[in-house]
Amino acid sequence: MFYDNKTTRVVVIGTGFVGSSYAFSLINQNVVDELVLLDLNKAKAEGDAMDLNHGLPFGSPMKIWAGAYSDCEEADIVIITAGANQKPGETRLNLIEKNVKIFKGIVEDVMNSGFNGIFIVATNPVDILSYATWKFSGLPMERVIGSGTILDTARFRFLLSDFFNIDVRNIHAYIIGEHGDTELPVWSQTRIGSELIDRYIQNHKPETTKEDLDNIFTNVRDAAYHIIERKGATHYAIAMGLQRLTKAILRNERSILTVSTLLQGEFSLDDLYIGVPAIVNKDGIQEVIEIDLNEEEKKQLAHSADVLKKAMDPIFK
Ligand code: 2OP
Repeated sequence: MFYDNKTTRVVVIGTGFVGSSYAFSLINQNVVDELVLLDLNKAKAEGDAMDLNHGLPFGSPMKIWAGAYSDCEEADIVIITAGANQKPGETRLNLIEKNVKIFKGIVEDVMNSGFNGIFIVATNPVDILSYATWKFSGLPMERVIGSGTILDTARFRFLLSDFFNIDVRNIHAYIIGEHGDTELPVWSQTRIGSELIDRYIQNHKPETTKEDLDNIFTNVRDAAYHIIERKGATHYAIAMGLQRLTKAILRNERSILTVSTLLQGEFSLDDLYIGVPAIVNKDGIQEVIEIDLNEEEKKQLAHSADVLKKAMDPIFK
């Protein structure tokens, strides 16, 4: 299944809503040979492993078990979804102290197993926890990837597709920056098919107003609040995004995804993890794609980075 036919293994740390939905998505897409589930609540991981195993006759052969940190040694990917999540009204940045502490223990335990693969981080605040994982693990930055704005980009593409009534796969658009309240839409590069959005609107939907477009972005930015208010958590779409990212790595797809990665001068930013488009291959981050931004977008990205840095500084200085 792997691009070089090696047996592939993913270890999921945290089998809450996101971790278990991710596991379900992986088995449905036949992405990996071995799937190991770990949770502080061992019974939950065991129950999930049993339940998922019972679905295998309807899917494809693979191995699934509730494991231990020692299983990380042989893993290609360790994905961390564990930690506290937002309560209604809480921001992602409110979780920082609790989750950095939890991550220190988790990353140490993973590294002590002899793990030498790729970390995917999904817990919030994801940009800061990705940076923490990179620091705590000592792995090269290429091998620590945060889910970043992968989900926000998907939400943006979905809402644009809904508004213009066009197949979402023909909507090319990015949300970049913090996975959180300061993220931004890159309108200047948004395309429907190969047409820039302004031109598409002129040609096909001239009645579109600035307010329509602003509402689309606001609904993207605030989507998690709207869902958490209704059902307490978001998990299906992020799980599918994480599955897509996992597949890009294990199948060496060279996919361009808006993930959280360490910037080292790109976009005039340095020493922080933040969501930007990057090529993802078997080694993790192959390259950050430094897309052109207009002046307003540059300002918004700098502001988003500033907010992240201010939240991080007391912890990492
Ligand atoms: C989301 O955006 C809560 O970060 C999570 O759905």
